[in-house]
Amino acid sequence: MVTDSHLQETTIKAELQQAVERRRNFAIISHPDAGKTTLTEKLLLYGGAIHEAGAVKARRAQKKATSDWMEMEQQRGISITSTVLQFEYENCQINLLDTPGHQDFSEDTYRTLAAADNAVMLIDAAKGLEPQTRKLFEVCRMRNLPTFTFVNKLDRPGREPLDLLDEIERELGLETYAVNWPIGMGDRFKGVYDRREKKIHLFERSEHGKREAIDTVVELGDPRIEELLEPELYYQLKDDLELIEGVGSELDLDLVHAGKMTPVFFGSAMTNFGVEPFLNAFLDYALKPGSRNSTNGEIPPTYPEFSGFVFKLQANMDPKHRDRIAFVRVCTGKFEKDMTVNHARTGKAVRLSRPQKLFAQDRESIEEAYPGDVIGLNNPGVFAIGDTIYTGQKLEYEGIPCFSPEIFAYLKNPNPSKFKQFHKGVSELREEGAVQIMYSADDAKRDPILAAVGQLQFEVVQFRMQNEYGVETLLELLPYSVARWVDGGWEALQKVGRLFNTVTVKDSWGRPVLLFRNEWNCQQVQADHPELKLNVAAPVVA
Ligand code: G4P
Repeated sequence: MVTDSHLQETTIKAELQQAVERRRNFAIISHPDAGKTTLTEKLLLYGGAIHEAGAVKARRAQKKATSDWMEMEQQRGISITSTVLQFEYENCQINLLDTPGHQDFSEDTYRTLAAADNAVMLIDAAKGLEPQTRKLFEVCRMRNLPTFTFVNKLDRPGREPLDLLDEIERELGLETYAVNWPIGMGDRFKGVYDRREKKIHLFERSEHGKREAIDTVVELGDPRIEELLEPELYYQLKDDLELIEGVGSELDLDLVHAGKMTPVFFGSAMTNFGVEPFLNAFLDYALKPGSRNSTNGEIPPTYPEFSGFVFKLQANMDPKHRDRIAFVRVCTGKFEKDMTVNHARTGKAVRLSRPQKLFAQDRESIEEAYPGDVIGLNNPGVFAIGDTIYTGQKLEYEGIPCFSPEIFAYLKNPNPSKFKQFHKGVSELREEGAVQIMYSADDAKRDPILAAVGQLQFEVVQFRMQNEYGVETLLELLPYSVARWVDGGWEALQKVGRLFNTVTVKDSWGRPVLLFRNEWNCQQVQADHPELKLNVAAPVVA
């Protein structure tokens, strides 16, 4: 007999299945200047979310400083906050988790990747792989995230496409499959050959790439090709295709989804060349929101109860409210405004009023959200990074690892009368995940050590200590650049006896961390003590 609750469950599962089928979620990883802002803008243009390219940048410039954060962003002309952009394309809902592109990047960048189902690696055709792209790719690799590559700026002289593919294969150990192939380069960049459709897309520039590129599509053997394309470019394309068909591997979506093969696209975000073919292929190949590991095993997104985890916290986005926002990645079930959920860490019930969806810096209220979406929740100090919220049976998602910091400094409070505020600030900023905090192993009274992956995190901490807690602080930089967590904790460390060329500190959970001046020192300690197991990232604390 079909009961009412059974029927209800079947209906919600069907609704969730439909929502999951429509959703694609990704983050762009790139080195500053590769063209992330430009590509984002063009994706929004094709997605119909904006009508003229330039709008995102203009919007950014027009916006008055609406918070202390943004004041700092504006002074520096960079984007500190990661935001979530949502747009519709071809009946799909695309969620772009925007990661900051500045050199001074922070742990937020890494954490955003924990909420993403796919990554798009954006590369400047003239520069190839750059340091920040490599670092971010390492995080994608840790999570086996499917990675799509967009080689940008083909409208300028750049490196040979085959050379770039070779670099990705050699240096990242990722198999490549060129989904499209560029026709010409620099001034003579005319379009791309789409190997999926076996068609040539010839583009014409629109004024400053403000509108979608005019795209003439022809078959490879079409007689019109001789009028449309210089013979030299045509013959070169045929030669190139013969070469890549001959030596290259087949596209294997299982390998793509396992993060072992990257589909590669060539184009120019500025002139819109190749953006649309990329978007179309991406929709077909990208992973839809999938199952996630939890304390109750793998949970599929169609599990009818709501669950999600906090991957980022942001304070004071709007100074009028002195608010804090917790960004939650929805993993299962349907989110509805005003629903009451359980908070796994504290066991408390929390009512989720005022949920927000973020489009750039404008916030709009949302009524419902599905797996793969990101919601911003008002956070009166309840949520911490990695927290799970759920309805129904208790479950917790795997936490988000602490990433290996590379710069360290004592944070000092020169004014003893501000002792309380100083400690409150340090503790709250740590909880929020603005920076990692460590302490000397032998002297608990010493100042806290800030440990960060980017210089900007230090500036943000000092700025916020002053602005939000009224404490002026001093930084004393420490000469270390490598941190390693010790497997087996203090016990394992004691067994190996005295170590040279390293200092031992403890993290916020009291676990030992070794700091080294450089990678070389670290390798030496490892070579001298092969029994000591050192980890780049801290074990996750549930
Ligand atoms: P980012 O967010 O990754 O840091 O890069 P952004 O999009 O801001 O692009 C960095 C620079 O590269 C910009 O130039 C941008 O116009 C340019 N760019 C992006 N895509 C392409 C492309 O496909 N071809 C060419 N030739 N250039 C591209 P800028 O001079 O720094 O800024 P702007 O004056 O254009 O705004």
